[in-house]
Amino acid sequence: MTKSILIVAAERGLGLGLARQFFDRGWTVVGTARSGADTDDLRRVGETDPDRLAIATIDVTDTGQIAPFLASLGSSRFDVIFMNAGIWGAQHQSVLEATDEEFAEIMLTNTFGPMRLARRLLGKLAPEGTLAFMSSHRGSIAINVEGGLELYRASKVASNMLARGIYAENRERRLTVLSVHPGWVSTAMGTLNGTVDAEIELEPSVRGVADVVEKYMGSGQNLYLDYRDNRLDW
Ligand SMILES: NC(=O)c1ccc[n+]([C@@H]2O[C@H](COP(=O)([O-])OP(=O)(O)OC[C@H]3O[C@@H](n4cnc5c(N)ncnc54)[C@H](OP(=O)(O)O)[C@@H]3O)[C@@H](O)[C@H]2O)c1
Repeated sequence: MTKSILIVAAERGLGLGLARQFFDRGWTVVGTARSGADTDDLRRVGETDPDRLAIATIDVTDTGQIAPFLASLGSSRFDVIFMNAGIWGAQHQSVLEATDEEFAEIMLTNTFGPMRLARRLLGKLAPEGTLAFMSSHRGSIAINVEGGLELYRASKVASNMLARGIYAENRERRLTVLSVHPGWVSTAMGTLNGTVDAEIELEPSVRGVADVVEKYMGSGQNLYLDYRDNRLDW
């Protein structure tokens, strides 16, 4: 049977790359964008078989959009739900310099919004389905030996923790929960809007992320791993 994935934030960057990967692997893909976003590239992903690609609308920071978003998904049950939305946050990345608004914005966008939405989406997951989060190696406490990047790190370590909570509470349904580091990737975020070089291009990253999702989906595990299938220390 055709496998299905919902990718939250799929109209550019890693989300768009993932949509293309899974579509090309024969999956049915529902990708989301924020209202008013340019979804032409995402729509083009489904050009060869439009029945396998749909677009839905959600801003993860807006609680008022959750109910209409869930309704727009109808009775679909996904094998995988991938929460990809995220921001880099204030360029200074410093707790000392951050305003309350800057800290609230990154936590709301990278952590609280996606987690709240993920919990509301659990009913849209197939039995023994897989919930994946686009995490980062910056979310590891164990490998943070250099400090810095405080705002982004805080948001991703909290994401890892809250993902673990969802896993722990849903063991009986054999939920799989993956927190995935995609590498340092050449996207708008990864290049800080073209001002720095990233380590890898989009294609090898999303190919690797799709590979680890396919490898561990349905395994009933909670894993923190990267796009090359290396485990990261929490
Ligand atoms: N690139 C890297 O090196 C790297 C490394 C580790 C982890 N990551 C993670 O990978 C994910 C994707 O990043 P990217 O590199 O692809 O960045 P990107 O090109 O900047 O894309 C970010 C995506 O998140 C969406 N988004 C932002 N705020 C949102 C909101 N409030 N509601 C819904 N969607 C929202 C954006 O939608 P709009 O177009 O509407 O803004 C866009 O689709 C992020 O979670 C990021 O933290 C990236």
